[in-house]
Amino acid sequence: MMDFSIVKMLFGKKIFILVILGVLLFHDAILRRRRDSFRRYQFVVNETPFTRLCETKNILTVNGLFPGPTIEVHKGETIVVDVYNMGNYNITLHWHGVKQPRFPWSDGPAYITQCPIQPGSNFSQQIIFSVEEGTLWWHVHSDWSRATVHGAIVVYPQYGTTYPFPQPDEEVLITLGEWWKKDVMEVITEALTTGADPNISDAFTINGQPGDLYPCSQPETFQLTVVPGATYLLRIVNAAMNDIFFLSVANHSLTVVGTDGSCTKPFTTDYITISPGQTIDALLLADQPPGLYYIAARAYASGSNPFDNTTTTAVVQYYGPIYPFQQPSFPYLPDYNDTSAYINFSKSLRSLTSESYPIDVPLNVTTQLISTVSINTIPCPNTSCAGPNGTRLAASMNNISFVNPSIDILQAYYNHITGVFDDQFPHFPPYVFNFTADYPQLILEVPTRGREVIVLDYESTVELVLQGTNLVTGLDHPMHLHGYSFYVVGYGFGNFDKDKDPLTYNLVDPPLQNTVIVPKNGWTAIRFIANNPGVWFMHCHLERHASWGMETVFIVKNGNDSNATLLPPPPDMPPC
Ligand code: C2O
Ligand code: CU
Repeated sequence: MMDFSIVKMLFGKKIFILVILGVLLFHDAILRRRRDSFRRYQFVVNETPFTRLCETKNILTVNGLFPGPTIEVHKGETIVVDVYNMGNYNITLHWHGVKQPRFPWSDGPAYITQCPIQPGSNFSQQIIFSVEEGTLWWHVHSDWSRATVHGAIVVYPQYGTTYPFPQPDEEVLITLGEWWKKDVMEVITEALTTGADPNISDAFTINGQPGDLYPCSQPETFQLTVVPGATYLLRIVNAAMNDIFFLSVANHSLTVVGTDGSCTKPFTTDYITISPGQTIDALLLADQPPGLYYIAARAYASGSNPFDNTTTTAVVQYYGPIYPFQQPSFPYLPDYNDTSAYINFSKSLRSLTSESYPIDVPLNVTTQLISTVSINTIPCPNTSCAGPNGTRLAASMNNISFVNPSIDILQAYYNHITGVFDDQFPHFPPYVFNFTADYPQLILEVPTRGREVIVLDYESTVELVLQGTNLVTGLDHPMHLHGYSFYVVGYGFGNFDKDKDPLTYNLVDPPLQNTVIVPKNGWTAIRFIANNPGVWFMHCHLERHASWGMETVFIVKNGNDSNATLLPPPPDMPPC
């Protein structure tokens, strides 16, 4: 803090206040000027009528678009997005996979790094790109309106450099979404009121369109017109709420070249798997006889609960004459519950590891963490809830079902406000049992509720093993970490064995991701170096599991020099 006592002595109180005001205004002006020099996007959030599946409803959108506008940047650029909330709900926006070095203030998760932007107000968010390259996306991070409020982020290579793969002839966004005929906010409000599983969706979408297999949808099916012999870079985003997908293109294979904003060793495959939150960059070579070919996607669902088993399609159409009434051919897709198809694809993802794309897998772990990820039940008085056996459904990490505070954790941490969160998140599962047994004891289903965070020293080397459990129902969980990408060093089935399983790790070319699947009946191990000070959220990217509390928070402490210190908040943070 500056010392104002001399000014105070010389000029008295009034002038002192004026001087302070002057300093503050000047400081504000500098911050504004700095932000004014960046490229800006204007995002107006408002209700817009859309017709799908023969019915019209209002949905929340950005600038009236579904999917929303695409952000295009070059690696390392900083932009500002001016967000105006003209809708009826509190909202926040999150830039999924953007690390925001030392600046969680614009990251977006409600009550973790900011309070929501209220209807009628605005917030200018600074998005700081650093090492990301490829495809990422942005979405609402306050409630279920993320079903319609999302869009892609394309990060081109640094100016003057090219892709680490042959230059495609064209680039195409493929955004996968999920549609309910009902208002999505009603769907989640009803589920949280009764304690039941939320209603399953009525359709999946590709670029906002369900496709030929749904009623009233055929004329608007997304079409990709291709030139024979040309190569297309598909930037695929899974923006669905609750469903992991298999996706494939009839008669064509795909060459995967990136995931989650990082480059991978190219590999060719007949289908891809993609979980909510994840992105896949893949090349499509138009090498088939001219004709019509479906791109199709449907759910991978490993649990025993009901799921949307419909199929969304788009059409690849070759330039040239198409015979009347010609039907597109339909691709092979793995079965709904084919866990090995899912895991085999995930294991094929490898970091590129070239001279221009070196990797840096942490080898010596200083902080070992193991967390269960579980579905839970909370007993209700007189078994009056609509979850299993009259309970209320919940979810947890290490048996703690996360409850949002009423002011954000970042503000509480930065300003030393006590009583908002606690730092007792257990580093190991509080109860050890056979996590993947078919019928774990019912008593283990009940979680505690809390706001425990994990505090990490600056530059500690973290290994986090995420262990799935069969409590209530075993299924896959796509876990996402803010502020970081991590190396996915291992997957396995059964209970993680700290002696044997690390021997199977890939420490040579593991993929760098921000969202990773924890397989049903299994575990996943990730590693990262805690070099981004701040408050960073971690949660399941199946929205219903996040709504039930499958979440935790990392607080990464400051390092010793000023380059390793959390930056101050911008002047226009939304009030709590
Ligand atoms: Cu894609 Cu915490 O979110
Ligand atoms: Cu989950």
